[in-house]
Amino acid sequence: MSGKFANRVAVVTGGGRGIGAELCRAFADEGALVGVLDIRQEEAEQVVEQIREANGQAMTVACDVTDRDDVEQAADQVEQELGPLAIWVNNAGVSYILPFLECTEQIWDQTLEVNLKGAYLGCQAAVRRMAPRQGGVIINMSSQSGKVGNSHYAAYCASKFGVIGLTWILGYWIVQAEVVVLACQVTDAVPAIPGLGALLLPLNPLRRR
Ligand SMILES: NC(=O)c1ccc[n+]([C@@H]2O[C@H](COP(=O)([O-])OP(=O)(O)OC[C@H]3O[C@@H](n4cnc5c(N)ncnc54)[C@H](O)[C@@H]3O)[C@@H](O)[C@H]2O)c1
Repeated sequence: MSGKFANRVAVVTGGGRGIGAELCRAFADEGALVGVLDIRQEEAEQVVEQIREANGQAMTVACDVTDRDDVEQAADQVEQELGPLAIWVNNAGVSYILPFLECTEQIWDQTLEVNLKGAYLGCQAAVRRMAPRQGGVIINMSSQSGKVGNSHYAAYCASKFGVIGLTWILGYWIVQAEVVVLACQVTDAVPAIPGLGALLLPLNPLRRR
């Protein structure tokens, strides 16, 4: 394998579709050995197939990021089959766009569970394995909604603000064990809410919509 990530092991949660699937394919194109974790096993398997067809190496593990045992077992399985974890991306997420008073407790709980608890469990699994080896990179998928609030995104904003807070806290590991923890924001869906895109655009360093 050659490329920027040649023979490095990269895990992407929520790798079965969307941004996660693109990340998996991009890592594989750069030579990484990719663990595709998703609650949707069929979609994750398709991503693995695409990577293999392009002569890359990947595997899938069924994993609900809200379940500690699932996450720990997935991390073990990836290490056993592909090698020591070098990169872990907490990408799995859910979002609901609706006025604040229509945000039910069920929506609130699910959003916080997947987006924030999922990132917390993923960070623990990754730090636990990377820190003793003095190296690794964790990327937490936040959002512009992790920087600015909106009534249509109450639970989502709360979870993504939380992801940024979690990432700040984990800066400790950069000093202690050379594990680098980053928060990432991507945008494109937000302009669906009238006025929100214009509000968020100046906050986006790349000015991407
Ligand atoms: N699409 C955007 O415009 C946008 C903007 C900002 C941030 N983000 C963030 O980027 C990430 C990916 O977004 P996307 O648009 O590709 O989402 P998506 O809905 O297309 O994909 C999310 C993936 O996460 C998986 N998933 C959901 N719950 C899970 C669970 N409990 N355990 C394991 N996997 C689970 C889904 O099966 C799916 O494959 C999310 O964290 C999202 O909040 C997206």
